[in-house]
Amino acid sequence: MQKVPEEVYNRINNKIYDQEGDRWWHPDFSLNLIKTLFNPFRVGYAKKIFDRLKINPEEKTALEVGCGGGILCEEIARIGYNTFGIDPSEQSINTASKHASENGLKITYINGAGEKLPFSDNSCDIVLCCDVLEHVQDLPKVISEISRVLKPGGVFLYDTFNRTFLSNLVAIKILQDWKRWAIMPPHLHEWKMFIKPSEIKWLLSQNHFTWKEHRGIMPDISPLKILQYLRIRVKGELTYQEFGTKFKMTESSITNVMYMGYAVKSFPL
Ligand SMILES: C[S@@+](CC[C@H](N)C(=O)[O-])C[C@H]1O[C@@H](n2cnc3c(N)ncnc32)[C@H](O)[C@@H]1O
Repeated sequence: MQKVPEEVYNRINNKIYDQEGDRWWHPDFSLNLIKTLFNPFRVGYAKKIFDRLKINPEEKTALEVGCGGGILCEEIARIGYNTFGIDPSEQSINTASKHASENGLKITYINGAGEKLPFSDNSCDIVLCCDVLEHVQDLPKVISEISRVLKPGGVFLYDTFNRTFLSNLVAIKILQDWKRWAIMPPHLHEWKMFIKPSEIKWLLSQNHFTWKEHRGIMPDISPLKILQYLRIRVKGELTYQEFGTKFKMTESSITNVMYMGYAVKSFPL
């Protein structure tokens, strides 16, 4: 796998995260769907893996790469990890820091990118990267940086979009392009930057990881019902927060739109 070519990377709009104002926690902005729809299953999945691996958060360091406004970081800090979040968007980092201090949470936020993590080798116990891998230009570099900063035995948890016909229809055409249902901003995602599970497995194998599993992420209601809710949201009759509480995203065996998974950093031979 190579770095994303310039002409493809220029099509994704990562500037969305730099806009003024609180784009993350506001109930009527699209990024709020992370809080209502995506965070609950992610946090549930992460806790399940922590339990499976018998990880006690006490004295352990967790880093979220691409933390945005801190929606996931706050939950990780609440579990008890010494939590760090890093993101290239200064505006998002400011929002995250303000929100954490208003809620009495001790989280260290740093402005920076996944391609060059400002952490020393073998310094983190957990790295999370959720809805971020399909936004970065140099995925091989990001995976190698995550491996570098993780301690041997450390856990890498991630979720991202698969690159399939169905993900193009759902995440690009319906959610971004077709005005009748598009509730997400244009160019939020670029289909060519989506990642096949086999590609991420290969990258992990090249970077001292033992890959463990992939699980699909699917809604718990029918596609027809979702189209109806999308239409109502487009007409402005539901806020993003209200839309995000109409159904749940759940763990599934179907990985062809979104999937999550984890890998463990190997011990040196
Ligand atoms: C969809 S948001 C996900 C935010 C957060 N992980 C969450 O789930 O709440 C994508 C985030 O990736 C960040 N991002 C983009 N390029 C990145 C890079 N090269 N390294 C790290 N983060 C990046 C963006 O600034 C943005 O905050």
